[in-house]
Amino acid sequence: MNYISGNELRKKFLDFFKSKDHLILQSYPLIPENDPTLLLVGAGMAPFKPFFTGKMNPPHPRISTSQKCVRTGDIENVGRTARHHTFFEMLGNFSFGDYFKKEAIAWAWEFITEHLEMPKDKLWITIHTEDDEAFAIWHNDIHIPADRIIRMADNFWEIGPGPCGPCSEIYFDLGEERGCNKSDCAVGCDCDRFLEIWNLVFTQYDRDEAGNYTPLAKKNIDTGAGLERIASVLQNKRSNFETDLLFPLIEHAAKVANVEYGSNSKTDISLKVIADHIRSMTVMIGDGILPSNEGRGYVLRRILRRAVRHARLLGIEKIFLVPMVDIVNTIFAEAYPDLVEKQSYIKKVIQLEEERFQTTLVQGMELLNGHIQKLKELNISELDGATAFKLYDTFGFPWELTLEILEEHDMQLDKPNFDSAMKEQRERARAARQDHEDQLIIPDLSHLETEKLIVDEHAENGNIILAWKNGILADEVHDGEDVAFILDVTSFHAEGGGQIGDTGFLESSLGKMKITATKKLVNGTTYHVGNVTEGLFRVGDLVKLKVDDNRRRDIARNHTATHLLHAALKQVLGTHVNQSGSLVSSERLRFDFSHFSQVTSEQLLEIEKLVNHAILENISVTIVETKQDKAKEMGAVALFGEKYGETVRVVSVGSVSKELCGGSHVMNTSEICVFKIVSEAGIGSGIRRIEAVTGSGAMEYINGRDRMLLSTAIKLKSRPEELAVKVESVMNRVKELENELAALTSKLAHSEVMDLLSKVQEVNGVQVVVGQVSINDIEGLRTIADMVRDRLQCGVVTLGSIHADKVNFVAMATKEAIHKGIHAGNIVKEVSKITGGGGGGRPDMAQAGGKQPEKIFDALQFALEVIKNQVK
Ligand code: ALA
Repeated sequence: MNYISGNELRKKFLDFFKSKDHLILQSYPLIPENDPTLLLVGAGMAPFKPFFTGKMNPPHPRISTSQKCVRTGDIENVGRTARHHTFFEMLGNFSFGDYFKKEAIAWAWEFITEHLEMPKDKLWITIHTEDDEAFAIWHNDIHIPADRIIRMADNFWEIGPGPCGPCSEIYFDLGEERGCNKSDCAVGCDCDRFLEIWNLVFTQYDRDEAGNYTPLAKKNIDTGAGLERIASVLQNKRSNFETDLLFPLIEHAAKVANVEYGSNSKTDISLKVIADHIRSMTVMIGDGILPSNEGRGYVLRRILRRAVRHARLLGIEKIFLVPMVDIVNTIFAEAYPDLVEKQSYIKKVIQLEEERFQTTLVQGMELLNGHIQKLKELNISELDGATAFKLYDTFGFPWELTLEILEEHDMQLDKPNFDSAMKEQRERARAARQDHEDQLIIPDLSHLETEKLIVDEHAENGNIILAWKNGILADEVHDGEDVAFILDVTSFHAEGGGQIGDTGFLESSLGKMKITATKKLVNGTTYHVGNVTEGLFRVGDLVKLKVDDNRRRDIARNHTATHLLHAALKQVLGTHVNQSGSLVSSERLRFDFSHFSQVTSEQLLEIEKLVNHAILENISVTIVETKQDKAKEMGAVALFGEKYGETVRVVSVGSVSKELCGGSHVMNTSEICVFKIVSEAGIGSGIRRIEAVTGSGAMEYINGRDRMLLSTAIKLKSRPEELAVKVESVMNRVKELENELAALTSKLAHSEVMDLLSKVQEVNGVQVVVGQVSINDIEGLRTIADMVRDRLQCGVVTLGSIHADKVNFVAMATKEAIHKGIHAGNIVKEVSKITGGGGGGRPDMAQAGGKQPEKIFDALQFALEVIKNQVK
């Protein structure tokens, strides 16, 4: 058995199955398409469910992939065993009603023993208890001794609802020294000795939500082989974490934490958790998932937080995840080059989330320590479930950390109540998911022959192939009903790639239907959703296709403009700009992109200018269909998180832009007429959003601005073209008036001061000034008090004023007066009480407010009493 790197192994596997007539597809993104039962793709077969059940036809009856997978069901075991991961790659070969057990078994064996050269005497086989057919193949054809084929009752593979069936596994015996030494240690034992490297599922059933198993019309093959596990065998490593797919990450984390890998089982666990989790985070963000408190975003957030928590266990308190993305990408550069392209974006998302979590940790620790303190004072050793859940749910503080910290203080957590609060929250989340599912009901489409369906922008007629309502196929639909149709030929463009779908009408001799949305099934088939407004339609009817052409032209303008905008952004802001989301509608376009600072108004102007320049240049837009590899060679920009089939469409706007895109476009840039940016803003996590309009949308926007200018000019008794001069002169006049007002106020203040000083009284050697002034803001009041105090040797001044229906008091005292017992803070405290308010402050200066202006006189009278008491 020779050393084989992770990258070589992936390639070898796919090459092998290519030689067995399999269509090799790229890994699907982690976000499942059209599958509300799944949060994340967790097995190679997940994207192919409709092909297994026969609901849709596959592009080829044999497919093979290396699929990115995330599973978090076993997250607690990550780092504790040699083989658990949240992120892993699953090598798989699939047959959709084509070959079955005989070929699947033979090819697995051929690959493992001949291409990977694994010694046959180390391999063991398991089969389902009743699967005599599999036994016969392994024993008679492959010549595995009967005592090495173990029958197991639980050899049945399923993951939630969907295709499933009995399975047969191949195990590698890593030797007694890796075992648990128990007398009954054998294949299936939980210890590390027997490693499952390959699972062959004979997919024969479809399981529904209620748990019923319906036999499938055709038998299928679904296989799964863990890339990391096989690599650990070929590289002779004790665990997946020591293979070249993960070890550089462990080494880096160990260096940062200043610990030695292999020296302590506790720190090893944390190092492994970090190595595993950073891979998950990188790939999840690369596939378009952003941290959030729901669904996949929450899975990502949780993984990141676990990594940070384990880093803290290792003594790492600073931000540390970001540099590890570079290492992940070095490992994955060959398999997933798109990750490298998105490197700076991924790092930014991680950095922002990590920083945020550090704050969460500090805040959570403070709250938890406060609770612990209180419990100790009350001699209670258990934290109640509701408080712990609030820490977790509201403040995002990991409950495992709460548990650990409580343990450090010899305390416990009221786990049953915590769990029930958690359960309630999960049920709420599940109910929310359920609502969503109901909208995605598509009937059984197994009879649909997709290869005969045509989308032709210029087609005028089509025939209804299938019709359904409420998820049930129908032969005939009637007026008033909400229905969906699939046509053999359609000119309607389906929603996709950020572009909204076409709308319009279908008309037959017997009925009319308003199309409100055009969408795509997972296999690419276009379907039309709408309402029958008149008469009826039957399957087979010929219908006239009436796309809303004006709307489509507006969509096309906005879509081509989006491509021009993307190119202009790269030119003005830099090549780091990557599309992270886009919406193209008939009214406007919205474009989200990675960029980590605000776009300045000069840059926006420059971007707008570049796009309009391309419009004025009258450039033809060309669309060609080609193979994916060829398109990349041509330099087409593949967009964020999108997946393309074998044949792709390249949309070029002269030398300005070249993108893979399935959407609607103008034939010449001049059709766009004009491009106008209407807003630019940050939408979080290093993503900016530009909204813009084109064509008649832009004209409307510009006219709206014009009208606003005109009405403003009228209000200022001016004309739009003179508005700038007019506004400047108005502003100058405002400034002059403000200065005049300030001069008058100061004069007034001066005379108030003089007035007050003429009424100074003496109490036990302290000069006392008490009075009401007509200045009505607190600042002015303070200035007057200041001026009075500065003119006193040993004195105290207490002033009050009324503003709207409130009272303000200020008191100030000289040092000498303070020596004699004066305390300004206490004066205003007492005085403001009389007017129903409060306040206080230092001995030399204080202010307070009150709510009853009518009592100001009494209050100031009382001030004199307070002062007399202070200097007694
Ligand atoms: N779908 C099977 C698995 O994930 C092959 O193990």
